[in-house]
Amino acid sequence: MTSELAGGQVVIEILYLIASVLFILSLKWMSSPTTARHGIWAGEAGMLLAICGTLLHHGIIDYKLIAIALVLGTIIGVPLGRVQMTAVPQRTALSHAFGALCVTLVGSAEYYLRAPNISRFMMSVLAIEVILGGLTVTGSLMAAGKLQEILPQRPLTYKGQNFVNFLLLAGAVVIAVWLVVHPDAKTLFPIMILIALTFGVLLIIPIGGADMPTVISLLNGYAGLSAAAMGFVLDSKLLIIAGALDGSSGLILSIIMSKAMNRSFTNVLFGAFGQVLTAGAAAEEAKPVRSAIPEEAAAILSAASRVIVIPGYGMAVAQAQHKVRELYDSLSKRGVDVRFAIHPVAGRMPGHMNVLLAEADIPYDRLIEMDEINGDFPQTDVALVIGANDVTNPAARSDSSSPIFGMPILDVDKAHTVMVIKRSMNPGFAGIDNPLYYLDNTLMLFGDAKAFVGNIVRELTGGQHS
Ligand code: TAP
Repeated sequence: MTSELAGGQVVIEILYLIASVLFILSLKWMSSPTTARHGIWAGEAGMLLAICGTLLHHGIIDYKLIAIALVLGTIIGVPLGRVQMTAVPQRTALSHAFGALCVTLVGSAEYYLRAPNISRFMMSVLAIEVILGGLTVTGSLMAAGKLQEILPQRPLTYKGQNFVNFLLLAGAVVIAVWLVVHPDAKTLFPIMILIALTFGVLLIIPIGGADMPTVISLLNGYAGLSAAAMGFVLDSKLLIIAGALDGSSGLILSIIMSKAMNRSFTNVLFGAFGQVLTAGAAAEEAKPVRSAIPEEAAAILSAASRVIVIPGYGMAVAQAQHKVRELYDSLSKRGVDVRFAIHPVAGRMPGHMNVLLAEADIPYDRLIEMDEINGDFPQTDVALVIGANDVTNPAARSDSSSPIFGMPILDVDKAHTVMVIKRSMNPGFAGIDNPLYYLDNTLMLFGDAKAFVGNIVRELTGGQHS
């Protein structure tokens, strides 16, 4: 190696080292709302340095193809970055699909460039890379399709499904082992990828929409691990570190989310959760509920001393967070103690409610996590549910036949009065009825969350707000 080349390599390694440190700091900072912005900047800076380091690589002899890829990536990436916040889970799934596609293609190219001169270790890593990559490509596309409702959200199940899935995975592993021993069996390589791609589709179809976030997080973990495997293949320490960080954080997040729903991984993956869709809801629709108009809701709220607001997906859909801030302000001015109960899976992505309420400048110390606030509901005058449904469903606590039985919920039914803002009696994400709505202490406030909260605020402020 000439001294110029060696010098270039040192620069690249330094850039990679700084990028790795920035990725680690990024994850650390993103774990707290107060440092989250720094976390985003650190992650972006780390990625920029990683790309710069890669572009300096002496192996690159022509930048034309890279320039074309950059333009294509920008054309696809810019609109993807501009989606509504409610569509972030499916957008994230698409990112995983792109990442995993890249890993699978690089792994395939490396195999055909090197075969049959591949060590057993390298062939094992290559097989892990393309199997995980392949199943993540199609699995993530399926997950995105289900969340975007291009594909049916309902779990699609058939007899012997788990056995078929197991056979497929076993088939891919057997081929992988064969290739480790006989790396020259080139025809088997694409078959292994095809099986992984098929497995990705079949793995996701029996999973209901309600479990998609956990699955996306799991696929994030797979994508990260496959990227780490690619790091071994390409001898890139940066990829190994970034892939391991991505893989482990995805897996940890899946575990946290599964715990928040009181579900095991196997139950998420094989439980066909959400199968009991609106049948229960249809049967319950005839039951009477008590409803109220904004004037009545405002009177109840202004007479209260302690109010807990429970935001959910409907608040995000209605973009009601700024009106909720106005409500918080006007009640606080009247001396009402207003806090916000945050369920870990309220909305459609982790931290969804925190982000929306922070956007509306609601003081962060007013946001209380589920475990901390649940004991306070019996001493609460009003629990105001704004577009939340599943996360308040008492059936999760008491009805062992409910598909969400065991999922920890916010105990809003224990408050003296419960008021629920939603547009209809339609079910939430899990597709099941909510017995909360038929309780004697519950008042339904039918309407769009933004409009209804706005009307309450107008009543409270004597028409000073629209
Ligand atoms: P959901 O159970 O989905 O309920 C949301 C409710 O909002 C619906 O019942 C809907 O009723 C109402 N709504 C929709 N648009 C509205 C609007 N414009 N104004 C007023 N209300 C509106 O939401 P949740 O309680 O937040 O629970 C989250 C669910 O999503 C859980 O099942 C969870 O497992 C799942 N999930 C969570 C995540 C994460 S990580 N947070 C990601 C994906 C899925 P109407 O149609 O009658 O208005």
